[in-house]
Amino acid sequence: MPQKILITGGCGFFGTWIIKRLLDDGDVPVVLDVAKTTKRWEMILSPAEIAKVAFHQVKIDDTEALLALVAAEKPDAIIHLAALQVPTCRDNPLAGAKVNVIGTLNIFEAAKAQRSAGHPLPRIVYASSAAVFGPDAEYAETHVGDHAALKPTTHYGAFKVCNESSAKAYWIANQIPSVGLRPLTVYGPGRDTGMTSFPTRALAAAIKGQAFDIPFNGKTAYIHMREVADMFVTAARRPASDSVVYTVGGDIVDMPDFIAAVDRLLPGAKKLITSSGAPLPIVSRVDDASLRAAYPGLLRIPLDQGLRETIEVFKRRDAEGKLEV
Ligand SMILES: NC(=O)c1ccc[n+]([C@@H]2O[C@H](COP(=O)([O-])OP(=O)(O)OC[C@H]3O[C@@H](n4cnc5c(N)ncnc54)[C@H](O)[C@@H]3O)[C@@H](O)[C@H]2O)c1
Repeated sequence: MPQKILITGGCGFFGTWIIKRLLDDGDVPVVLDVAKTTKRWEMILSPAEIAKVAFHQVKIDDTEALLALVAAEKPDAIIHLAALQVPTCRDNPLAGAKVNVIGTLNIFEAAKAQRSAGHPLPRIVYASSAAVFGPDAEYAETHVGDHAALKPTTHYGAFKVCNESSAKAYWIANQIPSVGLRPLTVYGPGRDTGMTSFPTRALAAAIKGQAFDIPFNGKTAYIHMREVADMFVTAARRPASDSVVYTVGGDIVDMPDFIAAVDRLLPGAKKLITSSGAPLPIVSRVDDASLRAAYPGLLRIPLDQGLRETIEVFKRRDAEGKLEV
């Protein structure tokens, strides 16, 4: 049976790929965003697919408007993505807290209101982040899974910890179950903002023959967005019976090896792509064994394949004169 799924922040990178996946599966995506921006949709979705997406201009931090939207749409599930990224939260923590923290509380309040009105609870899957963890040096374990110590070093990471704790509190106080997912460096067409967006932007620069510096070094866990979309959609289809949070893994690759992998697919890229600065302040040894055990059969896209797929889309956009770095 087709599912109606409300995607908050649906004009963003994650939202675009999740819409694509839902449409491919015959589900009904309903998008909420602060503004209708279709540039990422146009990279991935056909005009006929875009025409199928219902859009609502609502601020996630506007409690009244969000509750009214959920009451009107009665979605089977909510995939909650709307958020401000690391640099914006660093520069404006108050705005960050309003969108990232109040916005997430609003999702749970909307679910609570649905139940009070006698409707089924929407299933909730929300984007947390590996930014709940601290840098590599803080962890003794080889594999950093779901229960490793939370040691965020950014406002963004602190807000994600707050959201995970609030999700737990809504389970304990109101029996509202939820699933949180914590990805690290997600890449693919449409990735254009945020601290870990630079590897994707380097691919676009290399295709255009432009020099590009990735402003961090060291290892991180790379995961293609199509794989992450599979995780969100799979989790949104199955009722949860608790408040759970899963760490998301990926290919753990050092910066010189990432650049070498790009160079194999785009010969000459290593002359254009440089890297500088410290490693990301987020542990790289993230492990998603428990997520994959909970949802058997999740997609796995090795880095080479994910890079190849990304380059294919970027080359097509470039040929159309539409590739931006
Ligand atoms: N991109 C990554 O590698 C990564 C890694 C871990 C976690 N995440 C999380 O995944 C989620 C999606 O990330 P993304 O890469 O798609 O980000 P994105 O910036 O591409 O998209 C976020 C969307 O949220 C919308 N938004 C911002 N403020 C809003 C508001 N007040 N009301 C409604 N919508 C608002 C934006 O307009 C945008 O369309 C976020 O919660 C992010 O923290 C992303």
